Formats: sequence, C-alpha cells, structure tokens
Amino acid sequence: MSQLKQETQRRRTFAIISHPDAGKTTLTEKLLLLGGAIRTAGAVKSRKSEKFATSDWMELEKQRGISVTSSVMQFSYDNFKINILDTPGHQDFSEDTYRTLMAVDSVVMIIDVAKGVEPQTIKLFKVCRDRGIPIFTFINKLDRQGKDPLELFEEIEDVLGIESFPINFPIGMGQSFKGVYDRFEHKIEWYNEKKERQTLALDSAEELGEALKDVADEAAINQLEEELMLLDEAGNSFDIEAVKAGKQTPVFFGSAISSFGVPSFLEHYLQMAPPPAPRESSIGTIEPDQKGFSGFVFKIQANMNPAHRDRIAFLRICSGKFERGMSVTLDRTKKQLKLAQPQAFFADSREIIDDAYPGDIVGLYDPGFYQIGDTVCAAKDTFNFGELPQFPPEHFAKVRAKNAMKQKHFLKGVNQLAQEGAIQVYRTKYEETILGVVGKLQFDVFIYRMKAEYGVDLDMQPMPHQIAKWIPNKEDAEKLQKSSNNLIVTDHQERQVIIFENDFGLRWFQQKYPDVLLADSGK
Ligand code: G4P
Repeated sequence: MSQLKQETQRRRTFAIISHPDAGKTTLTEKLLLLGGAIRTAGAVKSRKSEKFATSDWMELEKQRGISVTSSVMQFSYDNFKINILDTPGHQDFSEDTYRTLMAVDSVVMIIDVAKGVEPQTIKLFKVCRDRGIPIFTFINKLDRQGKDPLELFEEIEDVLGIESFPINFPIGMGQSFKGVYDRFEHKIEWYNEKKERQTLALDSAEELGEALKDVADEAAINQLEEELMLLDEAGNSFDIEAVKAGKQTPVFFGSAISSFGVPSFLEHYLQMAPPPAPRESSIGTIEPDQKGFSGFVFKIQANMNPAHRDRIAFLRICSGKFERGMSVTLDRTKKQLKLAQPQAFFADSREIIDDAYPGDIVGLYDPGFYQIGDTVCAAKDTFNFGELPQFPPEHFAKVRAKNAMKQKHFLKGVNQLAQEGAIQVYRTKYEETILGVVGKLQFDVFIYRMKAEYGVDLDMQPMPHQIAKWIPNKEDAEKLQKSSNNLIVTDHQERQVIIFENDFGLRWFQQKYPDVLLADSGK
C-alpha cells in the first residue's frame, strides 16, 4: 500500500453535534486526554472558572461562555489520526456549523439521557442525513437518572428517522449505574471501587447474571436480560453499510464526565467510521489517495489570535499529499499560490506543519485570496468541488456606520466578514446594506467584530423579514423591480433576491405572479 493510501486510511475526521449542555466539551476533552493531546482535565473548558475552551478564540465567546466559532483539534490514538471539528453548541448556531459538516466524514451526536433528542440536534442532524454522513450516537450522563434506553431508541428512530443499533447497553442508571455491556464483544465494562476501569469478557449474554450477581440486584439483572433479549429478537440487525450511508446509527452509552464508556466508544468508532471518502468535483470523482493534491476552504476566520492579527482559511484536504511550500492553483481565480506557512491545529496550539493528508485540516494564511467554498489543487488543469450550500437566512437587519466618515472601513469590514461567511450581505437599490443570518447570534458577533476589528460602531435596525428567495430569471427581476412592492435586493454576486416578511407574504406573491420562478438559493 502506498504511503498516501496508508495515511488516508488511518484518518478519521468528525464533528460532534449536540444540544448545549449535553456534554460536547466534556466528551471532546476526554477524547483528547485519551489521545494524550492534553494532560489535565479542565484544559478544554471550564466555564465557571477563568479558563476557557481552546476553541473559544474570540473575546465574545469568553464573555458569553459559548463557542461561536468552530475549531479543529487533531490527536492520535492507536494507529489512527483523528481530527475533531468543533461546532458552536449555542442554540443560535450559525452557518459555520452547517459548513463544518461539509468538511467531515462522520458525526458524533451526543444526547443527554434525561432529555432525549432536543431541537438543536434535530436541525443539525437533518443536514447530516441529507448529506448521508454516518452518525454515531453517544448517550451521555448515565450517572444520572434518565429515560429508559428502549424509549430513547424509539425517539431516535421516530424523531430523527434513522435506525438505531445499540452497541452497548447500560447496566443500571443514575445511582445504580454499574457499567455497560458490550453487545458486540460480550464484554462488561465497569469501574471498581478504586475507580479503575475493568473489563470482563463473557462468551455470551447468558453469562451476565452470574457475572453481575455481586454488583447488581436480581430484579435489575432480570430487567437487563429481558431488554437485551428484546433487542436481539425485535431490534435492528447491525448493518455496517447502512451505518456508512447514514441510515443506521450505532448507539453507545456512557458518562463523559467520568470518562465512563469513552475509551470503548472511541475504539468502536475508529473501527466503524469511514476514512476520507471520494468527492464529486467538476471533472468527476476525486479519490482521496490519488496523487494530485486538492482541498476546499470551508471556513475563514479572522484574527483568531490577537497576537497575530491574521486571517486563516481552513482547508479540508480531499486528495493527495499536502507539503509545505507547495504551489497550488485557486480554481476560482486561477491564481497560483505558494502555501508557505501552513498550520495544523492541536488542542492548545497551532503549529507550522510540513505535510498533511486527506481528512486533515490545514490553516492557510489568507491575505484576502480565499472565499468560502474555494477549491485549490496542485494540477494545472484545475477543478472544483462545487459551491458549498448557502443556508437560507431567517433574520434580516439594515446596517450602517454610525459615523459616516467611517464608510470605507464599514464597507471593508462588511465585505471581509461576508467573504468569511459570517453573514450574508444584500444591497437595496438605494445602496443600503442588509444583513441576512441563519442564527440571530450572528448579528451580535458581527456588531462586535466590526467594532473590534474595523473600528466601526454600527447602527443596526432589525427587520421583520424572514424569508429570502432568489429570482433566477433576469427579465422577471426587472419586471418586478418596476411593478412589485416587495423588497428586492442584490446578493454579493449581483443576483436578485426578494425578501418576504412571512409565509403569507410569500404565498400572496406567488398567487399574484404565478409565472415568476423563485429559488431557495442563488445557485
Ligand atoms: P456542552 O459543551 O455540550 O455545552 O456541555 P459541557 O460538556 O460543557 O457539559 C455541560 C454540563 O454537563 C457540565 O456541567 C458538565 O460537567 C456536565 N456533564 C458532562 N458530562 C456529564 C456526565 O456524564 N454526567 C454528569 N452528571 N454531568 C455531565 P456544568 O455544571 O454546566 O459545568 P461544570 O461546572 O461542570 O464545568
């Protein structure tokens, strides 16, 4: 096997999605500890102390104790190289999260055992399902009393519309939580009085009663045996192909805070989760282990580190080997670029790296070359992986600089932040600037960054509008500009967009102009 193929096969790149407080930070930390990427618990984030998550780069995040931007953390375990792409957990999550999901090969969904599937999870989950991304479920906080496991499987299947297959099953819950039984390996995993992790291999589930007789009472053992039998007889059978297609989710139970169930989760995950997959491009399928280097930018982050005052484009490598100093072509502009100072991201630092492989994320210094969705490749005949999906904004606001003398800085800031994908920008025919966002929090981030990074105080006027539709047909747009009272604006690519206050407005418009074609995005 070539070195490139070997390196590709040992990569696992995933994001963790969850509702805030389900335990994403805690699980991330335990995974990093297992991989030796951090040494002490609490290094990732402790909101109540003065320490903040490695992923919380921005001052704003510190103030609020929430993670606004996504970060990347790499660590090794066994022979695997693992990249975790962090996503904002706040319920006002932004497009950043959506786009991050475009750069991963699988997703870990955390569910709080007491709360079950929560709204934020559903939204993010749908993006994964639509893309067919494999989803692994970790049901957390088993040290607390929560919902019945069988009820949770039903919820996953009903609410999320995906089959579930529990790889392990909890032995008790809350105060009487003893450990988990691995249905795959017939292994019991528990902690002894000294809090040491212990495993006991059985030949089959029939030996469970005997093995547990000293730690659990008879009624609990009977219930466990019954539930396991029910799962064997009436539950789904494990289907790795369905897992890889995102149609079945392997489910794990544990308690992240004590790292309970985390090592076995990681080990199963690494075996089941797919390595970087081939990707469709403008010239057909690109295999990850084909020689020519290629990748795409899924995120641009300005001023990540106040000491650097720089802008970093996050590039997901899709094929070939990345080498420091290599020359590549940016497909959109056909500009040749030398990638001189690529950075890799670790739990507590970023470092210049010499090489990287498919599945890895590298940070490229960006003096303004890149846009979200840009493809770079080493080949002279360039190609692209297509535009990243734009997510329809649901909130709009008019903005201008409080001080008219700051207009130049205002425009620079607006353009750069739009290029980063932090907001969507529209202009009215009177040259007014309208922002569109998916989550309202993006407005706060925008106001904060315009002040901190561009020195511009903003006047922001929220609008009652909620729906944007693109008008693909130019003649339609011209006709509407004259005859319709609706708000028609242009997006950053001069495409015409019509903005409605609500569904009623949209339906009324469609009745009045039945021939006008409306699209959900500018593509
Ligand atoms: P998030 O990133 O998904 O928002 O969740 P985070 O890991 O910050 O966890 C949210 C809260 O849940 C934290 O408590 C954390 O300690 C707790 N937690 C995480 N995993 C478990 C678990 O397995 N069992 C129990 N019982 N609790 C868990 P907090 O009080 O909000 O913060 P902290 O003071 O503990 O940091």
